[in-house]
Amino acid sequence: MLRKKTTLMVIVALIGVGATIGCKESEAVKAKSGAQLWAENCQRCHNLPDPSTFSDEQWSILVMHMQTRALLTNNERDKIYTFMRQFNR
Ligand code: HEC
Repeated sequence: MLRKKTTLMVIVALIGVGATIGCKESEAVKAKSGAQLWAENCQRCHNLPDPSTFSDEQWSILVMHMQTRALLTNNERDKIYTFMRQFNR
């Protein structure tokens, strides 16, 4: 019983951390570059995607799609998208 409660508390704590990282932008997060955001967020679930793999058009769709998965703000998504476009040629 105690174990279950502890597990639940850990989960709740993790969700809390996730919400802070994903939805609210602290000043520190706002200062981050597209490259930083890409390196930190885009390898949580799969290998870090190489910007050169896709065209601007493909990235515009992919980044939108991954925004919902990675819980990024619009600002973070735009920075990552800008970074992808700079480094895919
Ligand atoms: C929460 C997990 C998660 C995060 C974080 C995440 N992705 Fe993904 N990504 C997935 C999953 C699952 C798929 C495959 C299924 C799909 O397309 O939804 C995928 C597929 C992709 C693909 C397609 C790969 C291919 O070769 O077709 C690209 C590109 C991609 N992600 C880029 C990104 C970028 C860029 C970021 C950072 C902004 C990111 N992902 C963050 C889960 C994630």
